[in-house]
Amino acid sequence: MCGIVGYIGNREIKSRLIEGLRELEYRGYDSAGIAVMREGRIESFKAVGKLSNLEEKTKDFSTKGPGLGIGHTRWATHGKPTELNAHPHMGEYSYVVHNGIIENYREIKEMLEKRGITFLSQTDTEVIVHLFELEAERYEDLFLAFKATIEQLDGAYAVLLITQKAPDTIFFARKGSPMIIGRSGSGEIFFASSDAPLIGEADEVAYMDDGTVGFVTSETLHAEPDSLCFVPLQGDKMTAQKGGYRFFMEKEIYEQYEVMSDTMIGRVLDEDIAFEEIDDAFVDGITRIKICACGTSYHAALTSSYLFERLSKIPVNVEIASEFRYKEPLLTDDTLFIVISQSGETADTLEALRMAKEAGLKTLAVCNVDNSSIVRMADATILTRAGIEKGVASTKAFATQVMVLWMLSLYFAKRRRSMEHDAIKDELRFMSYVPKVLQKSLEVHEKCKRLSKRYLHGHGFFFIGRDIFYPLALEGALKLKEISYLHAEGYPAGEMKHGPIALADAELFTIALMPKTLLYEKTKSNVEELSARDSTILSISPEMFDLADDFILTHPHNHPMLEFFEMMIVEQLLSMEIAIRLGNDVDMPRNLAKSVTVE
Ligand code: AGP
Repeated sequence: MCGIVGYIGNREIKSRLIEGLRELEYRGYDSAGIAVMREGRIESFKAVGKLSNLEEKTKDFSTKGPGLGIGHTRWATHGKPTELNAHPHMGEYSYVVHNGIIENYREIKEMLEKRGITFLSQTDTEVIVHLFELEAERYEDLFLAFKATIEQLDGAYAVLLITQKAPDTIFFARKGSPMIIGRSGSGEIFFASSDAPLIGEADEVAYMDDGTVGFVTSETLHAEPDSLCFVPLQGDKMTAQKGGYRFFMEKEIYEQYEVMSDTMIGRVLDEDIAFEEIDDAFVDGITRIKICACGTSYHAALTSSYLFERLSKIPVNVEIASEFRYKEPLLTDDTLFIVISQSGETADTLEALRMAKEAGLKTLAVCNVDNSSIVRMADATILTRAGIEKGVASTKAFATQVMVLWMLSLYFAKRRRSMEHDAIKDELRFMSYVPKVLQKSLEVHEKCKRLSKRYLHGHGFFFIGRDIFYPLALEGALKLKEISYLHAEGYPAGEMKHGPIALADAELFTIALMPKTLLYEKTKSNVEELSARDSTILSISPEMFDLADDFILTHPHNHPMLEFFEMMIVEQLLSMEIAIRLGNDVDMPRNLAKSVTVE
């Protein structure tokens, strides 16, 4: 969802901004723009669609010597994706970029219009720049004018503002939307919505706290409250690039066996699970668990509900965060409230977490992005350590979420004595095989590529499975629809006969998850029912199945979770190959955003 960049320094400003925005493309956007200060005057360019359109528009523009600029990729919320609605938004002599939503923009707009100010866009953002220029008439000190502006805004925002009245300054503010400030050894200043544009550019970064407001020039940095804490920036540009793969999604699928080892390191021990982030006192008095998440993270949550109840014998309830927040939930303080989020910025999940905190519950985040809003708010966080995930369709983040939750269920099992010592040891042994299983599962890629050509049409896909393979079926269907734009649904295999089987015919594709270690015969009967109605069946199983039209043979394993992770890879590769054949941009699917910071 919208991305922000800012730059002060001696290098060519336009290229710095556009390169920064390119690193944020994965968040999803439908228009982009920049504003650059050149010889005390601001020049601004905007374009609808991809960044290449903005590049085309700015091809004859460049800067020399010291300067500054701000840039933005917009994912439309208020108003259509048009040039007028794209950021930066301008006043008489100032420009602003903004992520988030200004909830009271209508009131402010009305007040400004009464004073004769004309608005060019339909956005909430435009009020910021006009309000600033109004305040600048009251305050001689432009920072005071900026602060007075920010104080009047309700909602969520990360804001950068530049003005011809202070041509060496970028004003900034953050509340509820992420923003990072970075600096290099040579005195350059960078702003960005996430680490990605800063890697290889800034030497150190500060993750702004909510409520921060300030200004920066090449000489001075002032923030209120004075809480900016700079830390060295880890990582290098190469790891953030595609590394020879066609898409980031493909690279991320292939990285899973490596990142899974990172997720487990120091945590999966021979006889126990250890989390530095929590201790026995943290889980003391907990008799139930509630988990809230969205999308793929919700599927990881649902998977874990089977594991928690089976292994730790603790009741678990899983809810979609956007539903939870308005249902007036009953919360009791013996409940551990877990939120799961790849980005750590999902607005609905963040709000669910806030509600749990307000109700006095212990809260735990399972998250991939350190210092994200969710991580900052939760009492404790277990990081999934998947590394930057750029593909909008989540793959390695999901795998590592499921792994952390599996580990957590064993952690509880040990502390609640719900499993024998030897049974825990066995489970840990199986866990340690996961990276190898993930690596071996990639062998199926060629088969998925070949099969994909048969699945480009039809009137729909049903992914079916039982037990933990039901959430995996949901995830398979979500993956396919996100990137192929084909209609797909996930269903519990045993539920098909209660309605959906009415859709069965040769043009209905059933992707059947048929693990040998869990309810094989039951699932098989359900698939037979579909086959009898002439549905086209693709079975994913270690055992050949006569009634399937196609099959992908998986390796035999003796633990359901090993089958789970192998089938997860099959689903990811199959969806990706179908989408590639359909000519889609699998990294940036239409209408979707990587970080969903609006409700
Ligand atoms: C995953 O492929 C999706 N793009 C989406 O469902 C995502 O999982 C959801 O928006 C939640 O995001 P989060 O994990 O960052 O909170």
